[in-house]
Amino acid sequence: MVSIIMGSDSDLPIMRQAAEILEELNIPLEVTVVSAHRTPDRLFEYAKAAAERRIKVIIAGAGGAAHLPGMVASLTPLPVIGVPIKSRNSIDGWDSVLSILQMPGGIPVATVALDGAKNAGLLAARILGAQDEAIRNRLLEYQESLRASVEVKYRKLEKDGWK
Ligand code: RP5
Repeated sequence: MVSIIMGSDSDLPIMRQAAEILEELNIPLEVTVVSAHRTPDRLFEYAKAAAERRIKVIIAGAGGAAHLPGMVASLTPLPVIGVPIKSRNSIDGWDSVLSILQMPGGIPVATVALDGAKNAGLLAARILGAQDEAIRNRLLEYQESLRASVEVKYRKLEKDGWK
């Protein structure tokens, strides 16, 4: 199972993109709110119990002083993917990115682009797919669908011209 957590329900419009792609790939998931600063006890309980609950990958999204992914990573041996969010308390998004990106050596967080929840979902699927052929095959199908969608674009542009 992939666990998707976020600092607030106001992050959901972005974080739901991770849930949607995982659902499309038929990968079990859970979605909830864990706030590093406002529910620190819940953060500890969640992160400490995650591996025992058979979670395989954690996707954690937060904005502004975005300490959730790093703190979760410090409390679990599971892979953590961080999603920086340009939230209402974020200055310009760089605060969210750097809070998640610049982890000290020893505590890795795989940081995706600002608001990059879809890629976080896909990266979680790839981590699972490294050991699961069925998931890997669904990812190959997904990549083929991307290739086909771009083929439609270049064929149309080449046929109709750029003007
Ligand atoms: C962060 O503060 C959350 O991850 C969210 O991005 C931001 C705003 O939270 P709310 O004020 O909407 O609850 O901790």
